[in-house]
Amino acid sequence: MVMNNRSVHSPSQLLGFGEFNLRMLAAYSRGGLNINPGQAQQVHHPLELQQQHIQDNDTTDVAGVIQEVGPGVKNFKPGDQVVAVLSHLTGGGLAEYAMAKESLTVPRPPEVSAAEGAGLPVAGLTAHMALTQSAGVKLDGSGPRKNILITAASGGVGHYAVQLAKLGNTHVTATCGSRNIDLVKSLGADEVLDYKTPEGAALKSPSGQKYDAVVHCATPIPWSVFEPNLSATGKVIDITPGPSAMWTFAVQKLTLSKKQLVPLLLIPKKEKLEYLVNLVKGGKLKTVIDSKHPLSRAEEAWAKSIDGHATGKIIVEP
Ligand SMILES: NC(=O)c1ccc[n+]([C@@H]2O[C@H](COP(=O)([O-])OP(=O)(O)OC[C@H]3O[C@@H](n4cnc5c(N)ncnc54)[C@H](OP(=O)(O)O)[C@@H]3O)[C@@H](O)[C@H]2O)c1
Repeated sequence: MVMNNRSVHSPSQLLGFGEFNLRMLAAYSRGGLNINPGQAQQVHHPLELQQQHIQDNDTTDVAGVIQEVGPGVKNFKPGDQVVAVLSHLTGGGLAEYAMAKESLTVPRPPEVSAAEGAGLPVAGLTAHMALTQSAGVKLDGSGPRKNILITAASGGVGHYAVQLAKLGNTHVTATCGSRNIDLVKSLGADEVLDYKTPEGAALKSPSGQKYDAVVHCATPIPWSVFEPNLSATGKVIDITPGPSAMWTFAVQKLTLSKKQLVPLLLIPKKEKLEYLVNLVKGGKLKTVIDSKHPLSRAEEAWAKSIDGHATGKIIVEP
């Protein structure tokens, strides 16, 4: 049996305090725009991908059925359907069985499919954190109306960010490729730019909006492109900060700049995941599924992920 990257005879032999094991029903195949484009080009065959990446199996997002609970687990029992964020250190989502912690697991109601649930954890939580914590958007719509730009709005994080931003009563400008413009509009974006056009590359809002916040999910864009599009105190929340972005962040801190680049690193929170699952249950948030792949061909899901052209989430199923 393979479980969280390790071969074991019985899942229970590994369970620690507050942990349980679950049988995977759906997992999100991680990859996407964070992978160095050169890395994708070095891979000539899915088997190479399997050798290079599947061994690492750092997939953290799963939906599953609890099999056995370890000591100290209070609110779950065998048979419960759940969505879990696995440890980012061990991952292990691309396996028949995974070990999860109660502290980062939430119930999955019947209205939310396993695939919809497995799409949510890291992407949904990142979109939620960027909008609520970094951009100050109140998702109940009670805050001041803000102008938000979301880049790569057709991707895993971006498609959740558009929907959440609209719950917060914001004006949303989004960027994506031409093939996804209708989809992104259907998710609620008010204006959509094709990133391959000059206007899209310049991030210029068609109606001349200046952005109070940018949730930046695409590959790096120079600060000089963002800056003229920001309101006086506009922020760029960069979920993929590279060295140049970190340098910009440091200089702006030192110079007390009003316009700011804010690097974001996700800290997953159970109650936020529960909130997102309930939004899906209530029909207020949806997981767009790019494609589903069997676990036996997980390398194909990886290949598609690292290509950086998914529309929504790439899901692996047993
Ligand atoms: N900071 C954190 O804690 C955190 C958490 C989660 C994810 N991330 C990072 O966030 C990034 C986004 O991840 P993701 O999973 O959402 O990406 P993804 O799903 O791979 O995004 C793919 C989508 O982005 C579009 N796209 C590609 N380049 C674009 C551009 N320059 N402008 C506009 N759209 C573009 C693609 O459209 P086309 O196919 O038409 O090109 C495709 O639909 C990754 O780098 C990931 O590592 C960070």
